Amino acid sequence: MEQTKRIPNVLTIAGVDPSGGAGILADVKVMSALGTFATSVIAALTAQNTRAVTGVLPVPPEFVTQQLDTLFADVRIDAVKVGMVGESPVVHAVAEGLKKHCPKWIVLDTVMVAKSGDRLLADEAVETFKKELLPLANVITPNLPEAGVLLGREIRTQDEMYEAARDLLAMCAPNATVYLKGGHLEGDLARDVIFDGKDFVVLDAERVQTKNTHGTGCSLSSAIAAYLAKTDSLSESCRLAKQYITRAIASADELEVGAGHGPIHHFVELWK
Ligand SMILES: Nc1ncnc2c1ncn2[C@@H]1O[C@H](COP(=O)(O)OP(=O)(O)OP(=O)(O)O)[C@@H](O)[C@H]1O
Ligand SMILES: [Mg+2]
Repeated sequence: MEQTKRIPNVLTIAGVDPSGGAGILADVKVMSALGTFATSVIAALTAQNTRAVTGVLPVPPEFVTQQLDTLFADVRIDAVKVGMVGESPVVHAVAEGLKKHCPKWIVLDTVMVAKSGDRLLADEAVETFKKELLPLANVITPNLPEAGVLLGREIRTQDEMYEAARDLLAMCAPNATVYLKGGHLEGDLARDVIFDGKDFVVLDAERVQTKNTHGTGCSLSSAIAAYLAKTDSLSESCRLAKQYITRAIASADELEVGAGHGPIHHFVELWK
């Protein structure tokens, strides 16, 4: 008898953005759109819209631990994406939880600043983040300002992205990969640079002229996690995730959500 193909389970550990374009709500949409079953552990609540983050309420670290332990005790998790973790004690709780439960794939989106410019990782948490979370990731997905904070220098051009990716990799586990996002540069191409310690891979897409790019980073990292759960291939997952995010950005203006940086169209393929 033919066996039914099992649907992968993916976990997002992140913050909640009530406007639905970023954070856990976006992650769950992406994971669902890409044919995986989404689960979530909430690390922080935010008061946020498309224009600003007006407040952050961290979840008590022991409750983050309890959510992780309870979920992993019951549900097989095929890949994890980590997003906004907010504060040092929560960073620590997430790192300890991941070490305890050892998921096969960990995608770490190094969330530090929202598209609106508001801080999402406290200054005091950056060192804990570098020491405890970075070494656990199979792949990290910094944007350029975040790469700048991690490296202590600005990355201003596409040419500088290669050396930045190399230096970021030195901060990660020996077999990790850096997926450095070039969304913050200007120019006709939205270029991302991937480095796995051996080869550089460049993923280019035409830059879409839109202000609606809220949650692109959350969505990209969730797409990588979803594809990892489905394919078990990191290079394939990065390539497919970039294609997905490009399509979702290209259709972002079909949505009408808020007056600031609006969300992208996570369900572009399904709602045709
Ligand atoms: N206008 C655009 N057109 C096409 N692709 C884009 C555009 N802006 C960003 N991207 C792509 O979107 C993905 C996310 O990159 P970006 O640098 O925006 O992440 P981010 O800053 O972490 O986003 P977020 O605000 O959600 O945290 C990358 O693949 C990037 O190249
Ligand atoms: Mg981001």
